[in-house]
Amino acid sequence: ADLKNYHTFGVPAIAEYLAEVHSIEDIREAIDYARSNNLKLNVFGGGSNVLFKTNPKGLTVVNKITGVEVVRETEKEVELSVGAGEIWHDFVLYCLDHKYYGIENLSLIPGTVGAAPMQNIGAYGVEIKEVFKHLDAVHRETKELERFNNEECQFGYRTSVFKTTQRDKYIIARVNFVLSKVPELNISYGAISQTLNEMGISSPTPEDVSKAVIHIRSSKLPDPSKIGNAGSFFKNPSIPNEAYEKLKMQFPNMPGYSQPDETVKVPAGWLIEQCGWKGKKVGNTGAHKNQALVLVNYGNAKGQEIFDLSEQILKSVRDKFGINLEREVNII
Ligand code: EPU
Repeated sequence: ADLKNYHTFGVPAIAEYLAEVHSIEDIREAIDYARSNNLKLNVFGGGSNVLFKTNPKGLTVVNKITGVEVVRETEKEVELSVGAGEIWHDFVLYCLDHKYYGIENLSLIPGTVGAAPMQNIGAYGVEIKEVFKHLDAVHRETKELERFNNEECQFGYRTSVFKTTQRDKYIIARVNFVLSKVPELNISYGAISQTLNEMGISSPTPEDVSKAVIHIRSSKLPDPSKIGNAGSFFKNPSIPNEAYEKLKMQFPNMPGYSQPDETVKVPAGWLIEQCGWKGKKVGNTGAHKNQALVLVNYGNAKGQEIFDLSEQILKSVRDKFGINLEREVNII
C-alpha cells in the first residue's frame, strides 16, 4: 500500500501491509496478525515526524482511534480523554471552542494526539507535559492496556520513555489532559508578544494567542500539503556553559538560552543558517528559506536524498562549531 497520504515528507514509500486501527480491539488484532505472519510492526499517527529512507517492512499500523470525552469537570478544570488518532490541531480548536485552555500555544502543530506525548511536543513556551495527565497504551507483547502517568512518561525536551527505554514497546490508545476553564496565558515568547502587538491586541484572549501562533507558524513554516517536510528536522542542541562562552568569543552573534542544568540551548536553525544552508537547494531537497531547521522536499525527492542532505548539514555544523546535532525526525 502506498503511504503517500499517511506521511508529510512526500517521499515515495510503500508499506508491505497496512492496517488502520479504530479501537483497542483493532490494535490487539493487528498485533496478532503481525505475530502469526511473522511481520515487523510499525506504528504511525499523522506521519508528520518521520522520514522513510526505505519502504517499511512488515505491517504498518495507522492509529485512527478517535473521540473526545469529558471524564471530570470542576468549576476551574476539565479532564478530557482523547483518542490517539485525533488530529492534534483539531483537538486544539475543539478546546478553544469549549473554552478549555492551556494548549493554545500548541496550535497548528502537525500530527496526532497519540504522537504528541511521545516527543513531548512544544512550541512558544509551552510543552504538552504541562497539561498531560496520563495515557493508556497497549503493550505489544502482552496486549494488556497499561497506564502511564505524567511522571512515568519521563518527559524531557522532545522526548519521553516512548523514545527511550520503552521505544517500540507500546501502542498509545488514549491520552488524558487536564485543561483550565480560566484563561492562563503564556505570551513570554518574543514572537508571540510581537505578533499580538502587530495585531493591535493589548489584552489578548487564548483565542488571540492561538491566532498569533497560527500566523507565526504559517508565515515561517512550509505547509506540508504544498512542500513536503516534517517540521524541525533536528533538535536544538544544549552545550555546557563554558563551551558556549568560548564559541561566543568566536561568534559574537550566536544566540543561546540558559538552561537550569548549566547548559545553553543554541538554536539549530541559526547554526545551520551560518553554515550557508538556509534557502539553499540541493537537487530536490533543501533547508527552508524562512526556517533553516526545516528540511524540505521540493517535489521528487527520495527519502535517501533528504537523509543525505541531513548528513551534510550535520557535518558542516560539526566542522564549524564542534556541535553534534541530533535528528528530531524518526528515520525508517
Ligand atoms: N534561527 C536562525 N535561522 C533560522 C531559524 C532560526 O537564526 O533559519 C534562530 C533565530 O535566532 C531565532 C531562533 O533560531 O530567534 C529560534 O527560532 P524559532 O523561534 O523559529 O524556534 P526554533 O528553536 O528554531 C523550536 C521548535 C519548533 C517550535 C519553535 C517555536 C525544536 C527542534 N523546534 O524551533 O518546533 O515551533 O521552537 O517554539 O525545538 C518542531 O518540533 O517540529 C517545531 C517546528
